[in-house]
Amino acid sequence: MDHFEYRDGVLYGEDVPLTRIADEVGTPCYVYSRATLARHFRAYTEALGGHPHLICYAVKANSNLAVLGLLARLGAGFDIVSVGELERVLAAGGDPARVVFSGVAKQEAEMARALEVGIKCFNVESRPELERLDAVAGRLGKVAPVSLRVNPDVDAGTHPYISTGLKDNKFGIPVDEALAVYELAAALPNVRVIGLDCHIGSQLTELSPFLDALDRLLLLLERLRERGIEVEHLDLGGGLGVPYRDERPPAPFDYATALLERLSKWPGSERLTLLFEPGRSIAANAGVLLTRVEYLKPGETRNFAIVDAGMNDLIRPALYQAWQAILAVDTRKPRDTATYDVVGPVCETGDFLGKERVLAIAAGDLLAVRSAGAYGFAMASNYNSRPRPAEVMVDGDHAHLVRRRERLEDLWAGESLLPDDEREAR
Ligand code: LLP
Repeated sequence: MDHFEYRDGVLYGEDVPLTRIADEVGTPCYVYSRATLARHFRAYTEALGGHPHLICYAVKANSNLAVLGLLARLGAGFDIVSVGELERVLAAGGDPARVVFSGVAKQEAEMARALEVGIKCFNVESRPELERLDAVAGRLGKVAPVSLRVNPDVDAGTHPYISTGLKDNKFGIPVDEALAVYELAAALPNVRVIGLDCHIGSQLTELSPFLDALDRLLLLLERLRERGIEVEHLDLGGGLGVPYRDERPPAPFDYATALLERLSKWPGSERLTLLFEPGRSIAANAGVLLTRVEYLKPGETRNFAIVDAGMNDLIRPALYQAWQAILAVDTRKPRDTATYDVVGPVCETGDFLGKERVLAIAAGDLLAVRSAGAYGFAMASNYNSRPRPAEVMVDGDHAHLVRRRERLEDLWAGESLLPDDEREAR
């Protein structure tokens, strides 16, 4: 459930009509709901109840400081994949001791900064990364807490670009090699094994791949135990899907409850802290992208609704053929209904937000693209020299501007002209 609904024909975010935000901030503009974010986060913590746990929100899904700050205040940890995300978490008041660091290409300077601020754990994705981390920690006189990200080779049944737990993917250490890498980790002087980690993909709509992955991790834990290697936590990654259209993914509560139940059969599980790294299931349906119709362009084979948001603002439809609902924000005025491809201003045929949508709209009307709180702004770019949109967080009847719209001069900030050159003198 989220807090975007119609009241008397107008779409609201919590108690704020989205028309008001468009008037005040302009479009395109992302709008997030504080209550929805909090509700989705709490669904995890409530399901895990008394079992030791830490919910490490995946910063990549939506890294706005206001989102991170809100989650930090609710007690969240964070899953990061770069030093940039680490600095965002720190800037938002997040606790470094609740940060786990994922990603296949961690650089030395990133490792050093994470060790300096004292993160909870490095999710190590390969043997050479483990060796590099040991060397960096040794140089700094630190011991790096590590978890190995294993690749359990389960099919997440999701889009190939966001499936990460198969042998063919670049992520994690193959489960068959994990024992040997754990033995190496246990022997290295500057790392300390504290966990076991996996992340099998994103937008999963079934429980079974998660349960299969858990079973494989538990088998590995047995074998580690036999070799005297004990871990403190099990990190099951993120990946829980959300309803974009007619998907029926398990709710976070049901997902966490099912995993806890499976885990409870494992001896000693009550001492094993569970970590999750949800991104989408917390943020996606807590946000919409507001955009205005510039032109209606009827055609022989298709009608186009040309809007002021494009693939640079929201790339999911172009990149993954993702379907996200598109709604008219103000339905009070009479309009003819037609079927439109909702397309943006970018000079690419792939620049669409939705295809064949039945809408009752006129030029100048506002549309809301739903489920845009995750992997929306976070994946936005300046392609076609388009300033990135503003971001607003609604909280009851308040609308806070949490990122101003980029200005034109932001587009070339940091660039410079070449010095004068006589070869070009005319
Ligand atoms: N942990 C790790 C190590 C990850 O790689 C990811 C996502 C997550 C957690 C969070 O997964 P989530 O709970 O959000 O599914 N841009 C794509 C999604 C890419 C996901 C990448 N990894 C999209 O818009 O669908």
